[in-house]
Amino acid sequence: MEKFVVKGLEEGLQGTVKISGSKNAVLPILAACLLTKECCEIRNVPPLSDVIHMTELLRELGAQVEFSEEQERIRVRAETIESVESEYETARKMRASFLVAGALLGRCGHARLSLPGGCQIGSRPVDLHLKGFQALGAKSRQEYGFVELTAKTLKGNSIYLDFPSVGATENIMLAAVLAKGCTVIENAAEEPEICDLADFLREMGADITGDGTDAITIIGGKELHGAVHEVIPDRIEAGTFMAAAAITGGNILLENIREEHLKPVIAKLAECNVRTETVPEGLRVSRKGRLHPIQLKTMPFPGFPTDMQAPFMSLMAVAKGTSVITETVFENRFIHAGELQRMGADIKIDSRSAVIEGVETLTGTKVKATDLRAGAALILSALAAKGETEISDIYHIERGYYKIDEKLRALGAEIERKDVP
Ligand code: EPZ
Repeated sequence: MEKFVVKGLEEGLQGTVKISGSKNAVLPILAACLLTKECCEIRNVPPLSDVIHMTELLRELGAQVEFSEEQERIRVRAETIESVESEYETARKMRASFLVAGALLGRCGHARLSLPGGCQIGSRPVDLHLKGFQALGAKSRQEYGFVELTAKTLKGNSIYLDFPSVGATENIMLAAVLAKGCTVIENAAEEPEICDLADFLREMGADITGDGTDAITIIGGKELHGAVHEVIPDRIEAGTFMAAAAITGGNILLENIREEHLKPVIAKLAECNVRTETVPEGLRVSRKGRLHPIQLKTMPFPGFPTDMQAPFMSLMAVAKGTSVITETVFENRFIHAGELQRMGADIKIDSRSAVIEGVETLTGTKVKATDLRAGAALILSALAAKGETEISDIYHIERGYYKIDEKLRALGAEIERKDVP
């Protein structure tokens, strides 16, 4: 097991950081590679543990997978599918393994997947995924911790999602592209990762329109071919580094970002007294004076992203005044508040709301990461705290942030990786 040891900074972060490809875009795109017998090449893929777990699952299903970590490039060829099963161990390590369900249903008419189960931030049900598959004609049976999906043929249909679930939208898209006829997903998720998946499916020959809106139309049934695709930059990694510049009073340049994916984060940073400037090389982020408190409510895209809630709680912990954060997407996503309180933050949680009284400064101590965004929030607080902070269970953080310690050191942070005896 490893930990990060982080020293509080006197000076703000300075320099340039190149943002990696998006974890939450590449995972469904890797599942989509199962939809064709031909070779697909996915570029700008960071070798994160979640990505590596997904490549292992594709191999278990029978695909040939070659991951050139140096070049951040994955080649997948699913000429034959030898298995339609994913075990509990796989699902336990990575919930997103459930994203192969739609592709296996579309390609083989059969999938037997371990139910992903909950995690720290919520129960993470898959009822909307199953509702979509059933609407397309699949039968689903749940027993012994598995869900078995079978479908002689998949037929297009209209599906209304009770909640604009990202995963359910993606899984239904992956099943619908091989279903015969027209599928309309209503109240669909609008996240940039949905559009990146749709772009990849179109490059494979699929007929998809409406991605990025709440109604996605798919004319399915055509055979799909291989494609080459470059994954979009990770908007949450970018937002996290923007928050790092904000909390340390620094001035950094982010390269390889898509500003249109960061609008809600840029807007809320401006309310905090943080300046962002579009320059030819990317986006420059700096802070003008003390951080201002804000009211923040997480919403599905284009609202403020739930994955940026924890990093923003760190910002609000040292803002000048009272902030309120409301988490509307997940039912238990304030666990990081307890760890921040150990650093001196003044936070009161009431169900889905957190009231944060900004303090002059936080102090370093021993804390632990409970999920990847909570872990990132602790790094941010540690950078701004007085003294030294030890963050354990950093495997959570490394699921979604590639070489975060190296990238931060290049900006002037004092962060070291140490083995925990
Ligand atoms: C994706 O998770 C992301 N993960 C999450 O990022 C992100 O926080 C989330 O979308 C919201 O943006 C990946 O893309 C791999 P949801 P997902 O289905 O698809 C409820 C990170 O930190 N729901 O949109 O699982 C669910 O309980 C991770 O990178 C149902 O009720 O999120 C939750 O309350 C964390 N039934 C809400 O919808 C369902 O069938 C949002 O979940 C599915 C979801």
